[in-house]
Amino acid sequence: MKATQALMDEHRVIERIILVLETAAQNLEQGQPVRPGLFIEVTDFIKGFADGCHHQKEEGILFKSLEENGMPVQGSPIGVMLFEHEQSRQFTRDLREAAQRLEVGDKAMTSKVIENAVGYAALLRQHIMKEDQILFPIADQMIPQEKHEQIWDDFENFEHEETGEGVHEKYLALADRLTQEVSL
Ligand SMILES: [Fe+2]
Repeated sequence: MKATQALMDEHRVIERIILVLETAAQNLEQGQPVRPGLFIEVTDFIKGFADGCHHQKEEGILFKSLEENGMPVQGSPIGVMLFEHEQSRQFTRDLREAAQRLEVGDKAMTSKVIENAVGYAALLRQHIMKEDQILFPIADQMIPQEKHEQIWDDFENFEHEETGEGVHEKYLALADRLTQEVSL
């Protein structure tokens, strides 16, 4: 199986959290009560799963393999993806800070929470679409067939060494819980 399939599967999980974020931001905008801690937990998920695990696999393993097989970093799809990962980190930092201040009663932070939640969601939705529809099909072509298995192994090793046992499952459970919370 192509190595990009593992990353596409993770995209489907990240999209569930994007939907949580969009729904929570919309509820907040409409004046409905939303627990600020929910946004903080979303940033826990982003930091641990979307950025900590998923983006690290892309940057440290898949993009490296693309480079080795002839794709430049500068002025290429890799360069755009790296830039967008950096933008997503900035949104996450700003969202977390605003949500923490909202949690201790700084109501003026409401608009900052909404702005960064919506900004992150929009960025990641189009980012995932570009990877799924443009970059990954290119990777499937550029990376030789026999290398795909090695990339799968590298992903597995990364999970064991960097992410740790059971961490993936912990974030899946968090995604389930937050989805339930915004659906009530
Ligand atoms: Fe991705």
